Amino acid sequence: MSYTIQGKTALVTGANRGIGKAIVEALIAEGAKRIYTAARNIESLQALVSQAPDVIVPVQLDVTNASDIANVARLVGQLDILINNAGIATGSDFSGEASLRIAADEMATNYFGVINLTHALLPVLHKSGTAAVINVSSIAGIANFPTLGPYSASKAAVHSFTQGLRAEVRKANIAVVGVYPGPVDTDMTKDFEMDKAAPADVANAVLASLKNGDEDVFPDAFSQAMYQVFVQNPKQLEQQFGTMVG
Ligand SMILES: NC(=O)c1ccc[n+]([C@@H]2O[C@H](COP(=O)([O-])OP(=O)(O)OC[C@H]3O[C@@H](n4cnc5c(N)ncnc54)[C@H](OP(=O)(O)O)[C@@H]3O)[C@@H](O)[C@H]2O)c1
Repeated sequence: MSYTIQGKTALVTGANRGIGKAIVEALIAEGAKRIYTAARNIESLQALVSQAPDVIVPVQLDVTNASDIANVARLVGQLDILINNAGIATGSDFSGEASLRIAADEMATNYFGVINLTHALLPVLHKSGTAAVINVSSIAGIANFPTLGPYSASKAAVHSFTQGLRAEVRKANIAVVGVYPGPVDTDMTKDFEMDKAAPADVANAVLASLKNGDEDVFPDAFSQAMYQVFVQNPKQLEQQFGTMVG
């Protein structure tokens, strides 16, 4: 089923930089009516707001903070598209000294941040009639990337949440979309030496998939190739990722 973005109201988390910022710019180009751009530091949104001051509403939101989430839920009276993009990747395996603390932090932001915010905004999404929830997972959520082990686990949790919520709200006409990027050229990957997709290309692929009614989005060449491996043989993707990272 096709979907129209023009005239819709959206909320994007982690909107101040990287993929989130690129998604906001793509939503502006698609004619979104209002975009709540959420960031931990509202001042970091200034340049983005100046691109479309009539469309963008900056909001302060740390997705790990319950009172921030409650404030946003009070503020947003109407919403069609929720884009759960905010995330952290600390670059830890499961064995290192700090790995358990890092795993807890990554789960708090990447998984509990997503489910808590979505839960708080579901009542307003139900009122839309044509709502969509877009969750940015990772290709590492499909098979574990061992040097990003706990991060991959948090993204697998987002993938599972996406599947479960999708079945739950289908009858309410709320589309639930999972996004599974490979490496993208943002601050998150500045220390990775590999080919990376441009954030604008990822953002455009996400919105094209939403418009097209796709539920699972592999927005770049790497994620598309790896997903094909997974479809053929899930064990092979696990082994391939294990080899890639030594
Ligand atoms: N880059 C990649 O290769 C890649 C690949 C697959 C998936 N992803 C996923 O794509 C999403 C965006 O990542 P990115 O590459 O754009 O990374 P990024 O440039 O590091 O941006 C991360 C964004 O998330 C925000 N954020 C972090 N913790 C937050 C919190 N507790 N509350 C609210 N916002 C928070 C950051 O805000 P601050 O500016 O305040 O830190 C920033 O806006 C993430 O979910 C990431 O896991 C990225």
